Amino acid sequence: MALETLARRDTADAAFLADVHAGLALPQKALSPKYFYDATGSRLFDRICRLPEYYPTRTELGILKARAADIGACAGPHAALVEFGSGSSEKVRLLLDAMDAPAAYVPIDISGPHMREAVARLAGAYPRVAMVPVEADFTRAITLPPLEARGRRLGFFPGSTIGNFTPEAAQDFLAHAAQVLGRQAAFVVGFDLAKDAAVLDAAYNDAQGVTAAFNLNLLARINRELGADFDLAAFRHRAFYDPVPGRVEMHLESLAGQTVRIAGQAIAFRRGETIHTENSYKYAPARFATLAAAAGWQVHALWTDPRHWFAVALLEPAGRGAGPTASGAT
Ligand code: TRP
Repeated sequence: MALETLARRDTADAAFLADVHAGLALPQKALSPKYFYDATGSRLFDRICRLPEYYPTRTELGILKARAADIGACAGPHAALVEFGSGSSEKVRLLLDAMDAPAAYVPIDISGPHMREAVARLAGAYPRVAMVPVEADFTRAITLPPLEARGRRLGFFPGSTIGNFTPEAAQDFLAHAAQVLGRQAAFVVGFDLAKDAAVLDAAYNDAQGVTAAFNLNLLARINRELGADFDLAAFRHRAFYDPVPGRVEMHLESLAGQTVRIAGQAIAFRRGETIHTENSYKYAPARFATLAAAAGWQVHALWTDPRHWFAVALLEPAGRGAGPTASGAT
């Protein structure tokens, strides 16, 4: 391996280790969800998206399919499509197909190898679209490489990833995205709607145990990359909906009193103690619109599915004129 690559890996490992130690020193132990997405985690997440209980991916795709033409028209000709957290870059095909001569696709993702594979597949299908992948943590400040696109920038943030931020962080992210995308932008954001707890509990506790494997892979990754000795059989996945903040919480629960060593440091767990690994906030449309407005966006359109389980908002920078145009079931 090239020295430069090794050095970059060392820096990444050091940051990972520092985050893990800091998170596990908190009174409520916590790990950042961005570390879910190593190669194994990315593959498991793709399987979550296809689970029968996990309705968000399927439901959002239905909405996007029904509204792709509206989104394409809003983007206009020669637009650059910028996706935050692009993963497998599957949903984006619907938008590229509906856009008029899209000039560029700019996926931003923390999982470099997974992203590059996805972009290679996409490049074959869209030879006229410039592929400009950016390997980055989109929760941090990002500067886009110079884009030659003559048209608008169309931001894309699907999958209710916005729900994995606290509402305050979601607002900060939307404000940051407004800066990255500029005054001429449009922004497509998918978010999950508040609903019956039974539907949510099933979606995050699938019968096949894929979500459990995904959650536990975080500990396996810490073992692999940081030389820790987590016993995966001594922890279990727990997910539940708390209607007060309106979020699903994901945890890893210690099944026994135990001590884990991470890079020489001992970390004690009480039986029943948990590591908080993820939040998934569920919004009412009005609450989302308020959040977007506080970040400098106005809702140009808001679409949902017949069951009102998921929503896709088309945002524009506030103060560009046109107010909301559409809402309701597809
Ligand atoms: N954005 C997805 C969501 O909140 C991420 C997700 C789905 C997830 N299932 C998960 C994250 C399980 C951690 C664990 O729905």
